[in-house]
Amino acid sequence: MKKLRLLLTALSLSVSVSMSAGDFTVGDKTFLLDGKPFIVKAAEVHYPRIPRPYWEHRIQMCKSLGMNTLCIYVFWNIHEQREGEFDFTGNNDVAEFCRLAQKNGMYVIVRPGPYVCAEWEMGGLPWWLLKKKDIRLREQDPYFMERVRLFEEKVGEQLAPLTIQRGGPIIMVQVENEYGSYGENKDYITQIRDIIKETWAFNKSLTPNPSPLTTTEKNLPVLFQCDWSSNFEKNGLDDLVWTMNFGTGANIDHEFARLKELRPNAPLMCSEFWSGWFDKWGASHETRPAKDMVDGMDEMLSKGISFSLYMTHGGTSFGHWAGANSPGFAPDVTSYDYDAPINEYGGTTDKYFQLRTMMQKYSDEPLPPTPKAPARLINIRPFQMTEFAGILLGSDSLVMDTPLRTMEELNQGWGSMLYITSLPTIESPSVLTINDCHDFAQVFIDTTYIGKIDRVRNEKSLQLPPVRKGQELKILIEAMGRINFGRAIKDYKGITESVLITGEADGHELTWNLKRWNILTIPDDYDAALNALKDGVSIDGPSTSVDTPFGPRGYYRGYFTLKRRKGIGDTFLNLENFGKGQVYVNGHPVGRFWNIGPQQTLYVPGCWLKKGRNEVIVLDVVGPKSTEIFGQNTPELDKLNMEKSRTHNNPGDMPDLNSATPAAEGELAPGNGWQTIRFKSPQTGRYVAIQALSTHDGKDEAAIAELYVRDADGNRVSREPWTVKYADSEDIHRGNYTGDKVFDLQESTYWRTARKTALPHLLVIDLGSSQTLTALDCLPRAEQGAPGSIKAFRVFVY
Ligand code: GLA
Ligand code: CA
Repeated sequence: MKKLRLLLTALSLSVSVSMSAGDFTVGDKTFLLDGKPFIVKAAEVHYPRIPRPYWEHRIQMCKSLGMNTLCIYVFWNIHEQREGEFDFTGNNDVAEFCRLAQKNGMYVIVRPGPYVCAEWEMGGLPWWLLKKKDIRLREQDPYFMERVRLFEEKVGEQLAPLTIQRGGPIIMVQVENEYGSYGENKDYITQIRDIIKETWAFNKSLTPNPSPLTTTEKNLPVLFQCDWSSNFEKNGLDDLVWTMNFGTGANIDHEFARLKELRPNAPLMCSEFWSGWFDKWGASHETRPAKDMVDGMDEMLSKGISFSLYMTHGGTSFGHWAGANSPGFAPDVTSYDYDAPINEYGGTTDKYFQLRTMMQKYSDEPLPPTPKAPARLINIRPFQMTEFAGILLGSDSLVMDTPLRTMEELNQGWGSMLYITSLPTIESPSVLTINDCHDFAQVFIDTTYIGKIDRVRNEKSLQLPPVRKGQELKILIEAMGRINFGRAIKDYKGITESVLITGEADGHELTWNLKRWNILTIPDDYDAALNALKDGVSIDGPSTSVDTPFGPRGYYRGYFTLKRRKGIGDTFLNLENFGKGQVYVNGHPVGRFWNIGPQQTLYVPGCWLKKGRNEVIVLDVVGPKSTEIFGQNTPELDKLNMEKSRTHNNPGDMPDLNSATPAAEGELAPGNGWQTIRFKSPQTGRYVAIQALSTHDGKDEAAIAELYVRDADGNRVSREPWTVKYADSEDIHRGNYTGDKVFDLQESTYWRTARKTALPHLLVIDLGSSQTLTALDCLPRAEQGAPGSIKAFRVFVY
């Protein structure tokens, strides 16, 4: 019987896959599907962010929104977790995802990177690339290109058989991803394009003896590049379709104006229309108004503009797959809810219904009904952790008497490291500096906890008490997601350079550069947790009294029971009692938690739960307040719990500009787009202050989307070390509009002052070091009329 069912399933799959071949091409100002004008209404969803048993449900949800296409990235690092070992099975079976799309009458756009960004660990690049120290990522580094080709060949083997020409659902394939916000390098883009052409035009499974490209190119899906309207020209190749990325609220005509000038007959497409935004640890949950999103899409549809709604359903960055933003270091939370119309767990939202109503206008037939959720939402009664194992028990290797090494050098991709060294006598208090600490260090002398150094907060140093020769310095470092955006994606973990102690002896200042270390690696995976717990102890209630060298830091295990099969459902594990770390449920890595918030619960899909006893393991690198956990039937994604305020209006940081001479003053022009303010003469200083005296809309609220400053040669200086020194007002009530949004490399995010705070406004940036500057570039908000754009201004450098 079982065999028969398998056979039938196989048959039904092969029937849908061998659907007759079609044709998707570029026509005059439109795409053409089998020769007829076609508007792409794509829903971006990410297969690794959805448990496989729920894939089809999410696809049907997108379909019931009126979408005709799914847009997916292919995440290199989840498919090749170890160099040369590829995995396209289970939750990684991207070809099956495409077949399911087709079964449900949806086309597919594939974005195979190699770099994808996506708030995903290292933007999708595998960490092991970093073992080549001098690697140039996303450039023509021979080793990088060789690995890219091997990966893309595998993607081709999986997906090239599924192009529309071959009877499959795939209509478009993207070349690289937003390269304009990384650099200018047409040669590199050309090479990636050619790799994509070769791996999609023929591949070994279809064409054992490949013929020259030209004869097979007709089999290619439409190839395209996506970028921002402000930078797409930098890397635009003549033979690729150009599409624009921008977010809810953007001035759509402005976004396409330049493209229309350059290519008046091209079809228009917004390849990422951002429905919401991603969250980082330590800042409020991001939202964008439903109406603005729906209006933008309505406008695009009314003008025949194709789009992909990023995200239509965000899902979850399970395990250690969440990335981090830069400049600075802003790791992303586990939830990728994104304030998308379909929420993190596949449910409907107000945005969903508003969007569906609008989309119905553009469909001749009634949209398919909203499918029933595959699981109900359940509560789980509070339960205690009953076993504990100290964090060191999770260690799987020890390197003795070695210079400092990064995590990658010790062959570990994710997790924690413990660095131990023996100290000299230092009689008075001294300062410990870690260059650089990636990412969250806790410092101990012997077994006494001294303090933390947190990269998120830009910390580098802390004070040590007097120490005696032979005492041990121990640095426990936990890595968070690797940066996924900008040049900083080359993000080594552990200690990257040096550990210094600066102290005093006999009136002299002395610096010790600590060179000899013992290093333990503590991988973050389920097997390491199981191994540790083999040697664990039973605990009863809060375990803070357990006697291990690192106190309560370690692995906790507990169980909850689901009595009936019917009682199984999706739940949100509340981790508020715990500090910081990772959770595994029945062996599934469900993701990172951190009590600072804003995310306080972790999504656990019901398909990973079972009738009877369910196992929960929490690796807490900080230690819990109590060891009770429970499951709730709604997520908590917006509860901050921080030691320090997120705003920057400490009066002591406000400069006295009364008698200062401005580097420049005048009026900015109204409207969207970049403007450059040139200084009267070169100015040297560490701080740049922008004062808004009036706004173009006559209101009190000022806003800026992005800022750069230029050096003596007129080049933009790196914003990597920038922080906000002072902002008189930041709107954290209606969203996340803090000062750092002016240098987060994202043109769609902005600093905005709060309601009811009067002009003038002041924003001061700390450049990290003194520099000589000649100009400032300023980008107002991307929305129609650039709301909050500054009119009269003064700029100071000091
Ligand atoms: C860009 C990238 C996406 C994603 C969004 C922000 O558009 O192309 O992968 O990172 O930004 O969510
Ligand atoms: Ca911004």
